[in-house]
Amino acid sequence: MSPLYTAICLAVLFDPIGTTIIQTDVFDSCKWKCLLFAQLWPGSFCMTLPKQDCRIPDHVEGWTIHGLWPSGRRTCNHTWHLTHEDIDDLQVDLFLHWPSLTNTDAFKFWGNEWIKHGTCAACADSMSCPHKYFSLALQLQKQFAINEAFIAAGITPSCDNSYKLEHFHSALTDMGTHVEFQCCTLKKRQVLMQIKVPLSKDLSIGCNHTEEHFSNQYYHPCTNKAEIYFYPFTHHPHNPCP
Ligand SMILES: *[C@@H]1O[C@H](CO)[C@@H](O)[C@H](O)[C@H]1NC(C)=O
Ligand SMILES: *[C@@H]1O[C@H](CO)[C@@H](O)[C@H](O)[C@H]1NC(C)=O
Repeated sequence: MSPLYTAICLAVLFDPIGTTIIQTDVFDSCKWKCLLFAQLWPGSFCMTLPKQDCRIPDHVEGWTIHGLWPSGRRTCNHTWHLTHEDIDDLQVDLFLHWPSLTNTDAFKFWGNEWIKHGTCAACADSMSCPHKYFSLALQLQKQFAINEAFIAAGITPSCDNSYKLEHFHSALTDMGTHVEFQCCTLKKRQVLMQIKVPLSKDLSIGCNHTEEHFSNQYYHPCTNKAEIYFYPFTHHPHNPCP
């Protein structure tokens, strides 16, 4: 046992006044700082996938939930599986707002999200079981209503008009200064695809999430070096703007 560890244990045992502070600083098992609430623009997401992999349910008309992700942590408990009973009363809402956009069954999609991200979020009281985690995501989607914010800012889907990154940022100032916009590249155009709102553990906005600006084969951070398109989508989404 290291001297520091011993000193901390002694402080916890013998210093009741200091206990709370020491415990939250040193024994905080939540090893993440920011929580990212990600919403997808389904049409753009689909355009990046091969045809057979994408499927937008008929009821979907706007931004959908992609996930609620503690940043930098994954699969904290691989034996904690989601069950239907866990989210029984939420399934109707989840089908509407957190649909699977691929051939993956929706429940399987939620189960994967729970194992990969939910089990890491579960160290926070507000997400300590599947029901709380999925309810919170549904509540956040109401709170961070991108459809309404865009309409209010005059941002509407279009094949012809493009926007500047600042225009999107200013439409969502209520969601904090570190909102991340992710784009895909389609026929040499930058197309908006996903928006992530970083939250702190206490769910307040503005968590300074700068450590990983994620890129993969499908999407990358939108840049202000080129105009950004916000395409309409149809239920046959692969080519909305021929
Ligand atoms: C992981 O989840 C299982 C099933 O819910 C639980 O019994 C176990 O205590 C959890 N492990 C940890 C380290 O939290
Ligand atoms: C966010 O964090 C980065 C790196 O830690 C720092 O350079 C930057 O100043 C911070 N930004 C704000 C607005 O706090």
